Amino acid sequence: MKTIRLNDAAHIPVIGLGTWNLNGESCVESVETALTLGYRHIDTADAYGNHHEVAEGVRRAGIPREELFITTKLPLSNGYARDTVLASGERFLKELGIEYIDLLLIHWPDRSYPFSETLGAMNELKTKGMVRALGVSNFTPHHLEDAFATGIEITNNQVELHPSFNQKVLREFCASKGIAITAYSPLGRKRDLALALLLELAKKYSATPAQIALNWILSRGMIAIPKSSHPERIKENFEATSFVMDEADLRRIDEMPQGERIVWPTFADFKY
Ligand SMILES: NC(=O)c1ccc[n+]([C@@H]2O[C@H](COP(=O)([O-])OP(=O)(O)OC[C@H]3O[C@@H](n4cnc5c(N)ncnc54)[C@H](OP(=O)(O)O)[C@@H]3O)[C@@H](O)[C@H]2O)c1
Repeated sequence: MKTIRLNDAAHIPVIGLGTWNLNGESCVESVETALTLGYRHIDTADAYGNHHEVAEGVRRAGIPREELFITTKLPLSNGYARDTVLASGERFLKELGIEYIDLLLIHWPDRSYPFSETLGAMNELKTKGMVRALGVSNFTPHHLEDAFATGIEITNNQVELHPSFNQKVLREFCASKGIAITAYSPLGRKRDLALALLLELAKKYSATPAQIALNWILSRGMIAIPKSSHPERIKENFEATSFVMDEADLRRIDEMPQGERIVWPTFADFKY
């Protein structure tokens, strides 16, 4: 699986398994299935409440730790004070059954805590070897500028991104700052799978609409973390790299009409 360099210690595989809404045995089995099929990247979060299940899926798959890439995220509610971040780091490692986290993200920006405090504590975890790379999620360019002012290296911004919500401005900003983008809800939570252009291209490339969406994200240099609890879809999503789309077709997806965000909880700070 192709990877993107975040820093010297962390190279992120371009397809990962998303695990939001995956809990219990379904989560364990999906993680095990994905890893057995060739995935090496799992995306979780404290807020998903499934660290133990992810750990069990990883244990059952038996893949050497150094081949795996595990992302998790600090929780928004009261999670960003220095002491909490340090305690979370210890707890996450125990829950995930690992000795280091490949990528630790701030799940949602919360400007009531200075970024210097949260990122500073995350950097302490990194210095201790408990985390390999630091990143953020749901950050706008404005949040990122504030975070850059701390001088702490941020490698990744995980944001909603799919053909009908392509985040053109944010992508250009992140590219200019060397920040890799991970596309969450890369299928638009299925909304994009019914788009006429994706159906047309699926026919042309003997692929599925999900594979067209994922192939486009990867072709544009980003990382995608589709979630599925069905083995056949987990496989289908992983095989999205098995064909090459013509540049003209990729450009047609770039230029598609844009819709609204799907993920916009009340606590989001997207207007900053
Ligand atoms: N950082 C953040 O704030 C944030 C926010 C949202 C999501 N995320 C991360 O991003 C991951 C993915 O996003 P998401 O779960 O919101 O949405 P998504 O991956 O775009 O879509 C998931 C939905 O699509 C279905 N699906 C998956 N593969 C399919 C295929 N090949 N054909 C047809 N349907 C398919 C799944 O159903 P089945 O399970 O039934 O197959 C599920 O209903 C999350 O799991 C999470 O790890 C992060």
